[in-house]
Amino acid sequence: MRRTLDAVLAGRLEVDVRDQLPLTDAAEAHRRIESGPRHRQARPGCLAAGKRECDAREGSEGIRKLTYYLGSSLDGFIATPDGSIDAFPVTEDVIEFMAADYPETLPTHLREQLGVTAPGRRFDTVVMDRNTYAPALQAGIVSPFAHLDQYVVSTTLPASPDPRVQVVAGDPVELVGRLKHRPGAGIWLAGGARLAGALLGEIDELVIKRYPVVLGAGIPFSMTGQVRSVPFELVDDRILPGGTTVARYTRTT
Ligand SMILES: NC(=O)c1ccc[n+]([C@@H]2O[C@H](COP(=O)([O-])OP(=O)(O)OC[C@H]3O[C@@H](n4cnc5c(N)ncnc54)[C@H](OP(=O)(O)O)[C@@H]3O)[C@@H](O)[C@H]2O)c1
Repeated sequence: MRRTLDAVLAGRLEVDVRDQLPLTDAAEAHRRIESGPRHRQARPGCLAAGKRECDAREGSEGIRKLTYYLGSSLDGFIATPDGSIDAFPVTEDVIEFMAADYPETLPTHLREQLGVTAPGRRFDTVVMDRNTYAPALQAGIVSPFAHLDQYVVSTTLPASPDPRVQVVAGDPVELVGRLKHRPGAGIWLAGGARLAGALLGEIDELVIKRYPVVLGAGIPFSMTGQVRSVPFELVDDRILPGGTTVARYTRTT
């Protein structure tokens, strides 16, 4: 069955993935939530660089990583021109993947419906732009990721109505720099083109869910207004049964 991400994020969707999955798949999803990622692969460049450098990239030396975890069309758009992400085919396998491998990226209401209690292995913080926060806010959900520390970058939003959500009007680069030096787990960037463009120099890891759909036009992956080459290394790649691919890259410089 197909889901729409806009509906998921706005809390309009009532789902129980375990009801939709064969029993073995549901059990497997829960096993994976508890036991960690399955498809981690060797990282030749990182191994060659030595443990110290690998550890630094993985954020184990006290600096937290910023991960841009996003969904994209085949032609590189993260949303349609009006900001909708409904065109992405969020099939059961995609939801199962998210619940198993990135449970902290599911909105709190959906985690409750799915019975997902894992705190998440990767992120304890999310940084999003105003337009990404807006659908939840419009649906009356002031704290869509209540299990995370939430920062919304905006110069126009008034102060947040929820203590777990901080509205930041200042420079997002300065914000992320501050967050990186605090103790904690990783930082998830859930940003649109302008925010991702502004933070390009701070992104340590990219996780790209590429949905098997072409949009033709839309909001691009990042919008910097300037040519900038930032090298990344592929460290994990998988193909979900419905044709969505998930590639994970770490920054090499
Ligand atoms: N496919 C995915 O994985 C994915 C992920 C995230 C978002 N999205 C979609 O992308 C859409 C948002 O993209 P967008 O390109 O419209 O967002 P955007 O241009 O990056 O940011 C939207 C708003 O956030 C604030 N903002 C962003 N960067 C800022 C900066 N450097 N400094 C200060 N404020 C900043 C501004 O709000 P103010 O005007 O209030 O200052 C800006 O108008 C959403 O509709 C969402 O659905 C998709």
